[in-house]
Amino acid sequence: MSKTIEDLKAAFAGESQANRKYLAYAAQADKDGFPQVAKLFRAAAEAETIHAHAHLRLMGGLRSTKENLEDAIAGETHEFTKMYPAMIEDAQAEGHAQALRYFTFANAVEEVHANLYKKALAAMDKLPATSYHVCSVCGYTCEDHAPDKCPVCQAGAKAFFEVK
Ligand SMILES: [Fe+2]
Ligand SMILES: [Fe+2]
Repeated sequence: MSKTIEDLKAAFAGESQANRKYLAYAAQADKDGFPQVAKLFRAAAEAETIHAHAHLRLMGGLRSTKENLEDAIAGETHEFTKMYPAMIEDAQAEGHAQALRYFTFANAVEEVHANLYKKALAAMDKLPATSYHVCSVCGYTCEDHAPDKCPVCQAGAKAFFEVK
C-alpha cells in the first residue's frame, strides 16, 4: 500500500474520532455552562467531518450504495462475531462491569444493524418507506415504531428518538 493511502486511512480514523469526541465535549461544555465553547466544539466537529469524508473518498472507501451496504454488513458482522465477543471476555476477566454492559449492548445492536443492512441490500430500490428509531441508552435500532421496551437494554419507549 502506498504511504499516502496509509496516511489517508490514519487521517480518516483520527478525524472520525475527533468528530465524535468534540460532539461529546460540546455536550459537556453545554452542561458545564459554557455555550460558546460548546458552539466552537460543534463547529470544529463539522470541519473534522469534512476532512474525514474527503480522506475516505480519496482512499477509495466510497463505492456504489450496493457495495457500501456489503461493506457495512461485513463491518458489523466482524464486530458482533469477533471484535465484541473478545472484548466482552476481556471485560469479564477484568471485572469491568460498565464496559461489559456497553460491549454487550453494542454486540447485540451490531447484529441488528447487519440484519437491517441485509434487508436493505436484498430490496434496494424496492425498500418500503419506513421510519427508523434509535434507543438513546444502547443504540438499538428498529423500523416503523419504537417498542414499549427496548429488547436490548429494557429502556422504555421514551428513550427512543426517530432518525430523519
Ligand atoms: Fe452498528
Ligand atoms: Fe436500548
